[in-house]
Amino acid sequence: MYDAVIDEIDGRHIRVGNDWLIDFASCNYLGFDLDPQIMDAIDGQVRRWGTHPSWSRLLGNPRLYPEIEERLTELLGAEDTLVLPTVTLIHMSVIPALAGDGTVLLDSQAHKTIYDACRYAQGLGATMKRFPSGDLGRLEELMRAAPRDRPRVVCMDGVNSMTGNLPDLSAFAGLCREHGALLYIDDAHGFGVIGERHRREASPYGSRGNAIVAHLGESYENVILVGGFSKAYSSLLAFIALPTPMKSFLKIAAPPYLYSGPSPTASLATVLAGFDVNAIRGDALRAELYRLSMRVLSHVRDLDLATPNISDTPIIELPLSPGRDLADVARTLWQRGIYASLAPYPMVPRGQVGFRIQITAAHTDPQIDQLNKTLSELASRGDLRRGSQIPHPRRPPPS
Ligand SMILES: Cc1ncc(COP(=O)(O)O)c(C=O)c1O
Repeated sequence: MYDAVIDEIDGRHIRVGNDWLIDFASCNYLGFDLDPQIMDAIDGQVRRWGTHPSWSRLLGNPRLYPEIEERLTELLGAEDTLVLPTVTLIHMSVIPALAGDGTVLLDSQAHKTIYDACRYAQGLGATMKRFPSGDLGRLEELMRAAPRDRPRVVCMDGVNSMTGNLPDLSAFAGLCREHGALLYIDDAHGFGVIGERHRREASPYGSRGNAIVAHLGESYENVILVGGFSKAYSSLLAFIALPTPMKSFLKIAAPPYLYSGPSPTASLATVLAGFDVNAIRGDALRAELYRLSMRVLSHVRDLDLATPNISDTPIIELPLSPGRDLADVARTLWQRGIYASLAPYPMVPRGQVGFRIQITAAHTDPQIDQLNKTLSELASRGDLRRGSQIPHPRRPPPS
């Protein structure tokens, strides 16, 4: 399941050589990659703007850019937003720019791209400190030891890309505010999936898919939210939600704004069409995503399998029993027509070797049946680790 060449797709089926498999490695959570309304939005914009704007953003912005930033700012309820092609480019350029000669404080489970960006910031003069994931006490100690007259930036994931879980955002944001630090949060997997809570919401993922800050009822004070369109919105674009003066600063301090090529027109078009579909059908798609995810999670919990996911998000990591061979398990998955993301050593610590399933709104019930049947088979052979589940702490909707 590495480096596969996909010959053809049909919904969430993919063909690799002669084998048709169900794709549980896709992060196209809302199924926008397959949505005819979104596909139809591309041609007109490409005829109008050409296939690729080619200018760096500083050189020239097709009007699509301000339209995207205005709609995104409204959706997130943020002061302002800035878009660049990928989350990786944002981390690598924005974290060093914000940290300067100050301190970056990195959650130990933060995504590899955040880690790399913090290392880069370190090379440019920042001090880098890591704290055990979720450990507010240790973070506070490190924060107190960092010079107060220089920037301090705490970097972490929103919805974690491996566990599917959410951090205690209010506690981290509160600590950062108390110390005059910035909380920089990467919600690549939460944007489009979770959003603001309402009494009459279609699912516990909340409404509008406007990401973790709105979902947890937090404010953007001292919080920089980063997210991507390449997962739920199936488009090559990413964003930072930030105060307007910081946006002006990054326009000269973040190199990709000045020197890098932009996203292709097709992606800008599918982002705008994605906003339209999100406004009309987004909550129904999220309700379907939740229903399908819960079909898998309930099965996993009934089998008493260990998974770190306690937040009911569509990311389900399944560690193997000690001593089991991932290659054997991957062969069985393939033979049963299941395509998943493998997590081998040394990509993850030995104790976390296993595989990860992602559910999308474009999966079907028969596809979920086939996945659940395969998980039962692997569980009965003792391949999957067992472990009792921790009760999940999702906040109830506001009354
Ligand atoms: C949490 C997280 N951050 C960043 C990235 C990288 O995003 P991009 O492809 O937009 O650079 C990923 C990709 O999987 C991710 O999961």
